[in-house]
Amino acid sequence: MTYSNAAIYFMSGTGNSFRAATWMTEAARRSGADARLLPIGKHRPDQGAEQGAQRLLGLVFPTHAFTAPWPVLRLACRLPRGGGTHAFVVPTRAGTKFGRLFLPGLEGTAGYIVALILVLKGYSVRGVTGIDMPSNFMIVHPGFSPAAAGAIIARGETKARAFAQTVLTGRRRFAGFIPLLLGLVLLPVSLAYVLLGRFYLAKMMFANSKCTGCGLCAANCPFGAIRMWGTAQKRPYWTFSCETCLRCMAWCPEGAVESGHSLGVILYFVTSIPVSVYAMDWLAGRFCLPAWAGNVAVVFLLQYAYIILSIAITYLVFSILIRIPLVNKLFTYTTLVHYYRRYHEPDTASDDLNAER
Ligand SMILES: Cc1cc2nc3c(=O)[nH]c(=O)nc-3n(C[C@H](O)[C@H](O)[C@H](O)COP(=O)(O)O)c2cc1C
Ligand code: SF4
Ligand code: SF4
Repeated sequence: MTYSNAAIYFMSGTGNSFRAATWMTEAARRSGADARLLPIGKHRPDQGAEQGAQRLLGLVFPTHAFTAPWPVLRLACRLPRGGGTHAFVVPTRAGTKFGRLFLPGLEGTAGYIVALILVLKGYSVRGVTGIDMPSNFMIVHPGFSPAAAGAIIARGETKARAFAQTVLTGRRRFAGFIPLLLGLVLLPVSLAYVLLGRFYLAKMMFANSKCTGCGLCAANCPFGAIRMWGTAQKRPYWTFSCETCLRCMAWCPEGAVESGHSLGVILYFVTSIPVSVYAMDWLAGRFCLPAWAGNVAVVFLLQYAYIILSIAITYLVFSILIRIPLVNKLFTYTTLVHYYRRYHEPDTASDDLNAER
C-alpha cells in the first residue's frame, strides 16, 4: 500500500504529541507519501483536499481528562467528508517511570471518540493507539528528570514507529480496548472536564513577579487564549479559550507562569453548592423569577451560567489584585507548581509547534 499524500494534524502543549506526529510524518515520507504536518489551532482543515484511499489522514494529540481535548473534537467535526480516505488516531498519554518500572497513562475514550467521528464522516480508520510520553501534568506533579523523560520517550518512539509502519503498509492496528472501557466508566469525569473543568483550570493561571511582559506566552499560545493587559507594564491575562495545554508554562523564559492552587481553592469556594445556592436564592428573591425558573433543566442552566460568570468575575478581580507585589507573592508561594520542575519534550522548541511543515 502506498499513499500519495498524507496530512497529519497535531495538537501539542509541551511537544510530546508534536514529537509523535513527526515520527509518523517521517515514516510517511520515507514510504513515498507527500506528507504535511499541520498544527491544530493555527490550521483550519483544508476543505478542498482531494479525498480517497490514496490519501492518509492522521490526528495526534494529548489526552485531557481521559478523552480528546475539545479543539481536537472540533477539528474532527470540521474535517471535510472522508470519501474513503484512510485515517489513524494517536492520543499521547501520561507515561510515568518509578525506578525501573514504566507505567502507562490512561487515554480512556480519547482515541475511539475521534475515530468514531471520522467513521461517521466517511473515513476508513486503519488504526488507533495510545502512545506513552512523559506526563506533562505539571499542575499536579513536577516534570520528570531528563533521564526519566528520555527513557519514556525512547519507548514511545519505538511503539509509534511500529504503529506507523503497520498503518503505512496497509494493515490495521486497533489497540487500547481496556483503556476505552475504563474511559467509558470515567465518561462523567471527561464530560465534567469538557463542560466545566477546563474553564476552572484556565482561570488558575497567572504570571508571578518574574514576568517581564515579553508577550512570548501570548504569541505562542495555539488558541490565542492569552491577552497582554495593562498600560505601564503589560501582563498576561488568561481567557476561557485556554485549554490548559501548558505550553505557556513550559516555555516562559522566566519560569513565571503558575497555576495557583490557592486561587483554585478560592474559585472552588465561590462556585461551591452552598454559595451558588445562596446566590441563586438571592437572585430569585430580588427579581421574582417566573415559575418556569423552578424547572430542573432551567435550574441546571442557571447554575451553570452562575458558575461560569462567577469564575470570570473572580478572575478579573484577581488579575487586578495580582499586580500588588504582596498579593502576587502570596499566591505564588502558595502554589505547588512554583516548586515543581517544568517539562517540555527535550528536542522541541516552542517555535516548532506553530509552523506547518
Ligand atoms: C489538563 C491535562 C489533563 C491530562 N489528562 C490526562 C489523562 O486523563 N490521561 C493521561 O494519560 N494523560 C493525561 N494528561 C497528560 C498528557 O496527555 C500527556 O502528557 C501528553 O503526552 C501531553 O502531550 P503534549 O505535550 O503534546 O501536550 C493530561 C495533561 C493535562 C495538561
Ligand atoms: S509570563 Fe513569561 S512569557 Fe509571558 S509575558 Fe511574562 S515573562 Fe513573557
Ligand atoms: S494559555 Fe497556555 S495553557 Fe492555555 S492554551 Fe494557551 S499555551 Fe496552552
